[in-house]
Amino acid sequence: MTILLAGGAGYIGSHTAVSLLEAGHDVVIVDNYINSSPAAVDRVEELTGRTVTRYRADVTDKAAMTAIFAENTIDCVIHFAGLKAVGESGRVPLRYYRNNLDTTLTLLECMAAAGVKRIVFSSSATVYGDENPVPYVETMRRGGSSHPYGWTKIMMEQIFEDTAKADSDLSVVLLRYFNPIGAHPSGRLGEDPRGVPNNLMPYITQVAVGRRDRLTVFGGDYPTPDGTCRRDYLHIMDLAEGHLRAVEYAMAHTGTEVFNLGTGTPYSVLEIVHAFESASGVAIPCTIGPRRPGDLPQFWADPSKAERVLGWKARRSLEDMCRDSWNWQRQNPMGYGENKE
Ligand code: NAD
Ligand code: WQD
Repeated sequence: MTILLAGGAGYIGSHTAVSLLEAGHDVVIVDNYINSSPAAVDRVEELTGRTVTRYRADVTDKAAMTAIFAENTIDCVIHFAGLKAVGESGRVPLRYYRNNLDTTLTLLECMAAAGVKRIVFSSSATVYGDENPVPYVETMRRGGSSHPYGWTKIMMEQIFEDTAKADSDLSVVLLRYFNPIGAHPSGRLGEDPRGVPNNLMPYITQVAVGRRDRLTVFGGDYPTPDGTCRRDYLHIMDLAEGHLRAVEYAMAHTGTEVFNLGTGTPYSVLEIVHAFESASGVAIPCTIGPRRPGDLPQFWADPSKAERVLGWKARRSLEDMCRDSWNWQRQNPMGYGENKE
C-alpha cells in the first residue's frame, strides 16, 4: 500500500514511517518543516534502506495537495500535520485554529476529489477534558478544553465524524494518543523540540545532556500518591506500530472508529525522573515549582479496545522508554542540529 503521511517528518510521523516501510508499505511524506527537519526523513531512509517520496509543502495549500494526490496513488492518509504546543496555542489561537482545522479540511477535500477513502488521524487524550473519570474509555463523551490546541482536536474529531456520516465509503480512525516518549532504539530518530521543551521527557534529556540546568516539577501538591501529576507514557515505537494496525483496520472498514493508544499504567513526574536516572546513570537536579495552569492531576488510558479490535498492545517498558530517549539525546545533543530549518 501507499500511505501519505501529512506532517510525516515530525516526531510521531518519522517513527511511524519506519514501521510502515519495514512492513513493506510505500510512504509519501508531505511536510513544511515548520516544526521538524528534512534530516529526520533522511534518517528514516537510512534506517530502512528504502526511499521515501517527499514533498516540502504546506498541507493547507490546496493546489499543492491536489497535485500531490494526482501524482501518487494513495491508499490511506495519516494526518499528523498540526501545531501542538498547548501554551503557545493560548497566545496565538488563530494560528492554531487556522493551521490545524485547515490542514484537516484541505486533506478531506483533496481525498474526496481524488477518491481516497481512508484516513487515520492523530487525536489526543486531551479530548476527554477534565470531567471524565479515569481511566478514559472511548465511549466517554468528549469534554471541553482549557486551551485552543485541545479545542482544535475536539473540533477536528467532529469534522471527521460528520464527513464520514455523509460519505458511507469513508473510513476514519481517530487515534487518541496519551503521552508518547522515547526514540527509535538506534538513536538516529527522536524528539527534537524547538526552543525550551514544553514536554517532560525532552526537558529531562536536555538537562541530562547539559543544555538546561534543572527540571522544574510543575506542582508537588496534587492529590496523587507522591503529589506530582500522573500520566500514561508510551514508547514512540509502540505508538508507531499502533498506526500500522490502524491503517490495516481503516482498509477493512468504513465509518468512524476511535481508539486510545496508551499503556493503561500511569507514572508520576517523580517516577519518570527516577526511572530516567537509573536508565541513564545521570542525576537530574529538580525543583518543585508551582502548578502549570491547565494541568490535570492524573489521567491514563483504558487501552483494551485497541487490543481487542486492532490486536495492538504497548509492549515496551518504562525502562525502554528512558533508555531510548537518553540514547537519542546522548548521540544527538543538539537534535537534528544545523539541519533544522
Ligand atoms: P511534530 O510537531 O513533531 O509533528 C507535526 C509535523 O507536522 C511537523 O513535522 C510539522 O512540521 C508538520 N506540520 C505542521 N503544520 C503543517 C502544515 N500546515 N503543513 C505541512 N506540515 C505541517 O508533532 P508530533 O509530536 O509528531 O505530533 C503529531 C500529531 O500528533 C500532531 O497532530 C499532534 O497534535 C498529535 N499529538 C501529539 C502528541 C504528543 O505528545 N507528541 C500527543 C497527542 C497528539
Ligand atoms: C507531563 C507531566 C507536567 C514539563 C501534553 C498535552 C497533551 C498531549 C501530550 C498533544 C505533567 C509535568 C512537564 C516540565 C513538569 N499532546 N512537567 N515539568 O501536559 O500531559 O500533555 O502533551 O495532544 O495534549 O497537554 O505532557 O509532557 O507537557 O507533561 O513537571 O518541565 O510532566 O506538569 O504533569 P501533558 P507534558
